[in-house]
Amino acid sequence: MSEKLWSGRFSEKTNRMVEDFTSSIDVDKRLYSYDIEGSIAHCRMLAKASIISDADALALIEGLGLIKREIERGEFRFDKGLEDIHMHIETRLIEKVGKVAQKLHTARSRNDQIALDMRMYLRDETLNTVKHLVMLAKVIVDLAKKYIDVVLPGYTHLQRAQPVLLSHHFMAYYEMFSRDIDRFNDSLKRINVLPLGSAAIAGTTYPIDREYTAQLLDFPKVSANSIDAVSDRDFIIEFLSAASICMIHLSRMSEELILWSSTEFGFIELPDSFTTGSSIMPQKKNPDVPELVRGKTGRVFGDLISLMTMMKALPLSYNRDMQEDKTALFQTVDILKKCIEIYIKMLPKLKINQETMERATSKGFLNATDMADYLVAGGMPFRQAHGCVGGAVVYASSKKKELHELTLKELKSFSSHIKKDIFKILTTDQMINRRKSIGGTALKCVKAAIKEAERKLKIKMD
Ligand code: ARG
Repeated sequence: MSEKLWSGRFSEKTNRMVEDFTSSIDVDKRLYSYDIEGSIAHCRMLAKASIISDADALALIEGLGLIKREIERGEFRFDKGLEDIHMHIETRLIEKVGKVAQKLHTARSRNDQIALDMRMYLRDETLNTVKHLVMLAKVIVDLAKKYIDVVLPGYTHLQRAQPVLLSHHFMAYYEMFSRDIDRFNDSLKRINVLPLGSAAIAGTTYPIDREYTAQLLDFPKVSANSIDAVSDRDFIIEFLSAASICMIHLSRMSEELILWSSTEFGFIELPDSFTTGSSIMPQKKNPDVPELVRGKTGRVFGDLISLMTMMKALPLSYNRDMQEDKTALFQTVDILKKCIEIYIKMLPKLKINQETMERATSKGFLNATDMADYLVAGGMPFRQAHGCVGGAVVYASSKKKELHELTLKELKSFSSHIKKDIFKILTTDQMINRRKSIGGTALKCVKAAIKEAERKLKIKMD
C-alpha cells in the first residue's frame, strides 16, 4: 500500500478498521474528472501567479491528463487505504511525474478541493436534470395536444367534481414540472461559486489569483468568505429539496396512473412493455413502473432529511461528517434521472380509454354547480341556488336519474326560473367551454396554455 500523504506526524500505522471506516473512495471516485479538471486549473493559476514554474505546471498537467485516461480505461488501481479521490490522484501523480507532483497541493486543501468538486459535479447534474425535465415537459404537452378534447371527471377529495379536459389535467403536470425546471435553474446561481482558494479554512498566504481560476473553470463568482466556502453544503441541500419536490410531482402522477389503470377506473392502459406480470395470477398486468417511482420518492426525501440532519449541528467550518453528503446526493441524482427518463419513454405509449372517461363524467351530478350558476344568472343568490340544487340532487338520486335526465316539469318544481335552455347548460360541452376564465378548462383556454408552454419550452430547448 502507498504511504499516506499526511503520514508525517504519525508514529503508528492507521488501524485497518479505521482505514475502511474513513475511506470514501468507493463513493467519491465518481468525482474523478472534476477533481482532475480542478487540479489542472489550479496548476495553471499557480504558474500564472509564479508560485510554481511553467515547466512544473506543464509536467503536472500532463500527468493529470494521463491519470484521467488511466481511470477512463479502467486501468487505475483504487485502494481503500488512500481514503478519497483527491489522495488517489495526488499519490498516482507522484508515481507518474515524480517529486514535482508534491507541488500540486500548494495553496490548496482537500477542504476547498472537495467543495469545488461537488460544485462542478452538481452544476453538470443540475443542467442534466433540467434537460431531462424539459423533455418530460414536452412529452406532457404533446399528450395534451394529442388528447386535446377528451373529457374526464375532475376530482376533489377523489370524488367526481366537475368535468375537465384531459388536456387540462395533463397541463397541470406541465405546470408542476415547469416550476421544477425554474427551481433547478435558479439554484445554479448558488452552485456556481468558486470555493477554491479558501484552502483549509482561512485562505492562503500565497499570492493566488482566484478570479483567474474561476475564469478557467467557468465560475461567474468566487466565494466571499473562506470559512463559509469550506463548510457550506446549502447548494446540495437545495438540490435535494428541488429533487424532493420534483419527486412529489412524479409520485402524484404515478399514483394517478396506478389508479387510472385499475379495473375500477379503467381510464388508461399502460403499455405492455412497461408493465410486469404476476408469478401466480395469469390475468395480472401490474403498474410496477409508477409504483417504483412512487416508492423511490421516499428514498429521495430520506436523502434530503439525512443531509439536513447531518449539517444542523456542525460547528464551523469543515467537519468530516460532511463526507457523507456524497452518498445522499449521488443516490438522489441517480433516482431522479432514472424516474424522469422512464416517464419520458413510457408516457407517449399510454392508451387512453376515451369512452370510459367520458362515460364517467355523465354520472355523479357533475353538472350540479352549473345548474346553480344557471339559477344565479336568473337572479337567485348563490347560497340559495346551492340549496335548491341540493334538493334537486336528492330528488334525482331517489329516481335514479341524473339532473339532465329530469323532465322540465320536475326541474321547474325546484325553481320557477328554470326554462328549457337549462338542458344546454347541463351538457358536458357547455360545462367545459363556459369555464373560460384564465386558467380554466375551456378548450380555448387549454389551447392558449399549450401555445404558451410550447413557446417557453422552445426557449428552454435552445
Ligand atoms: N473525503 C473528504 C470529504 O469528502 C474530503 C475532504 C477531507 N478533508 C479532510 N481534512 N480530511 O469530505
